[in-house]
Amino acid sequence: MSNDNRVIIFDTTLRDGEQSPGASMTRDEKLRVAKQLEKMRVDVIEAGFAIASPGDFESVKTIAEAVTESRVCSLSRALDADIDRAGEALQNAAMGRIHTFIATSPIHMKYKLQMEPDQVVEQAVKAVTRARNLIDDVEFSLEDASRSELDFMCRIIEKVIDAGASTINIPDTVGYAVPEEFAHTIGQLVQRIPNADKAIFSVHCHNDLGLAVANSLAAVGAGARQVECTINGLGERAGNASLEEIVMAIRTRKDTLGLETNIDTTQIVPASRLVSSVTGFPVQPNKAIVGANAFAHESGIHQDGVLKHRETYEIMTAQDVGWNTNRMVLGKHSGRAAFRSRLEELGTTFATDSELNNAFSRFKDLADKKHEIFDEDLVALVSDTRAEA
Ligand code: KIV
Ligand code: ZN
Repeated sequence: MSNDNRVIIFDTTLRDGEQSPGASMTRDEKLRVAKQLEKMRVDVIEAGFAIASPGDFESVKTIAEAVTESRVCSLSRALDADIDRAGEALQNAAMGRIHTFIATSPIHMKYKLQMEPDQVVEQAVKAVTRARNLIDDVEFSLEDASRSELDFMCRIIEKVIDAGASTINIPDTVGYAVPEEFAHTIGQLVQRIPNADKAIFSVHCHNDLGLAVANSLAAVGAGARQVECTINGLGERAGNASLEEIVMAIRTRKDTLGLETNIDTTQIVPASRLVSSVTGFPVQPNKAIVGANAFAHESGIHQDGVLKHRETYEIMTAQDVGWNTNRMVLGKHSGRAAFRSRLEELGTTFATDSELNNAFSRFKDLADKKHEIFDEDLVALVSDTRAEA
């Protein structure tokens, strides 16, 4: 596959993820997460917001010094002091990036920035120019892009590319976009901006309507080649697009989408566990890819299918994403095939069909009373059945 089809994975767990209320991490915790992201072959790690606090500065600096295989990035507003602080934190990075941003939507410019659009353009160009004097890799984000005017975005993007930004990020800051419309916006930007080919277009989607992954994939279909995302979808409010979902969608639908990433997908579950344990944010059981039930089958029909051919009910393997195995969970919806198969794994075989049927009917009675039947329950149940026979 040519490079044009490679989607750059930009992880912002340590910056936007950490902005999730209650998710703050110490420097050492951030370093552990960054090393895991590097091991997973994430292309860009946004390590923090250097000016936000002395601790965040130290985290960005420490990560920039310890990580050599991924590019390390610091966020900065389009302000001199922010940019200089980011540059200082990244001084010793093997590969560094300053990510500077300013809001471009009418509501943000009028009420938050209290600036005229022309002033915003001027400040953006000044920020990118200053950042480029400190580092050779600069990303520029148009905050609240999905509520910004297309003509204005074209104007500011053309200018910041001329000033040296090599990545242009289009955030759906408030999770307002819907896939078709968002894809249209990205397609228009790529087509209309005369120097668009000098930069990589990126997207950064929030999940307020549960559409962050869908919007990101739609944008990639329209020409974006960097996706900003977080482990477990951690992030402000309802979170950011989830890294594991983006990466596995691209991999699982490779033939249809024609895209690829450089991620070692077997490191996904270890990364998810680590982020969950350092932040104290549990992963919901039915979370795609990394939830405890993502590769578990309970119903008899599904279990029977998977035992005959895994792909009847699985579109990827548990091992692909770092689980040891898929799981057959025995409960009231389970069937004879899974019951017998689990007992065989535990070393118990049935001499006759009637012995199996007896044990299975006791199992169903128990399953009506218990959510999940464990191996110890099965062993006890079979020995009771045999004792009474
Ligand atoms: O959501 C957002 O707009 C951001 C930017 C700073 C990239 O996080
Ligand atoms: Zn964000």
